[in-house]
Amino acid sequence: MVNKERIFSGIQPSGRLHIGNYLGAISQFVPLQDTYDTVFGIVDLHAMTQLYEKAGMSERITNAAVNYLACGLDPEKAILMLQSGVPEHTELAWILATVTPLPWIQRVPTFKEKARHQPDNVNMGLFNYPVLMAADILIYKSVAVPVGEDQRPHLELTREIARTFNTRFGDFFPEPAEIISTGEGARVIGLNGKNRMSKSLDNCIYLDDEPDVIREKIAKQGVTDPARVKRTDAGNPSICNIFTWHKLFSTKEEQAYCAKECRRAGFGCLDCKAILTKNILELLVPIQERQKELMADLNKVKEIIRDGTNRARKIAQETMKEIRDITGLTYLS
Ligand code: AMP
Ligand code: TRP
Repeated sequence: MVNKERIFSGIQPSGRLHIGNYLGAISQFVPLQDTYDTVFGIVDLHAMTQLYEKAGMSERITNAAVNYLACGLDPEKAILMLQSGVPEHTELAWILATVTPLPWIQRVPTFKEKARHQPDNVNMGLFNYPVLMAADILIYKSVAVPVGEDQRPHLELTREIARTFNTRFGDFFPEPAEIISTGEGARVIGLNGKNRMSKSLDNCIYLDDEPDVIREKIAKQGVTDPARVKRTDAGNPSICNIFTWHKLFSTKEEQAYCAKECRRAGFGCLDCKAILTKNILELLVPIQERQKELMADLNKVKEIIRDGTNRARKIAQETMKEIRDITGLTYLS
């Protein structure tokens, strides 16, 4: 059998997964598992670059694994793995760090943003974050990486690191492309209508939020056109985040209906939100049913991750052996 090209992507277990993770990342992963050899990681070592609650780490890993599976990743097709179970990722990260000029990292926007966000904890891990991410990708010789828009600079850097390594040691790594959704899903804005939906901000609809919680969050926290104060004011859908979400979850007809009724004050924001909520729940309820089934058998979930991690490790060990050869780390071999 001919080997298929490989794809890697990862999600940090830094909180519960939300609809931004679903639209930007996981929903893209699902169709790829049919055409590529896919490896999807839960990148716990990356999650350590911010202060975190140690006691909840296993639970957050479980949440990520359960959501991967509930959203349609199939362990018969894709490898689901835990980053810290494949130490070759960190081994390669060291080697890649030796070919990465300091200024490349200093100019990565996510590094600057995180350093601003956690000024008392600008640790070396934060600095090395993009290099470890490059290692996650390159250890599997991945040709492409499905991610949200925020990860684009990391992918650019990964290609630069691969290129530098190849120039020094011979053509070895592919330069992986990013796969970023073309629509609004590439960067889902949170409930506040301002920032990107993020586990670190209180602006998320989580994949495991109860339907009542989702109804209430959208009704109470979902920011609409700020100029539409009264029910009788006409609104402007093009500056309303709820309308942006309609583009992600509602049919073309519903979008046209909502835009029209908003513009002529034919209905209120709550009516518009009710249509959106119905559509979000239509997507999430089946996912939540699968979550519940998986939560009832966490041993099985752990076995899937253990098995995926073992399979990933075999590939990573082969790559590391080749890298030791081409970099001259062969004294004991
Ligand atoms: P993280 O939660 O930072 O580990 O992100 C995991 C994946 O979800 C990455 O591919 C991100 O780019 C993607 N992602 C996270 N937040 C969003 C968002 N608000 N919109 C689109 N994609 C996102
Ligand atoms: N940096 C990514 C994020 O915050 C997570 C990540 C780590 C990742 N390693 C990766 C994503 C490798 C894709 C490929 O979302």
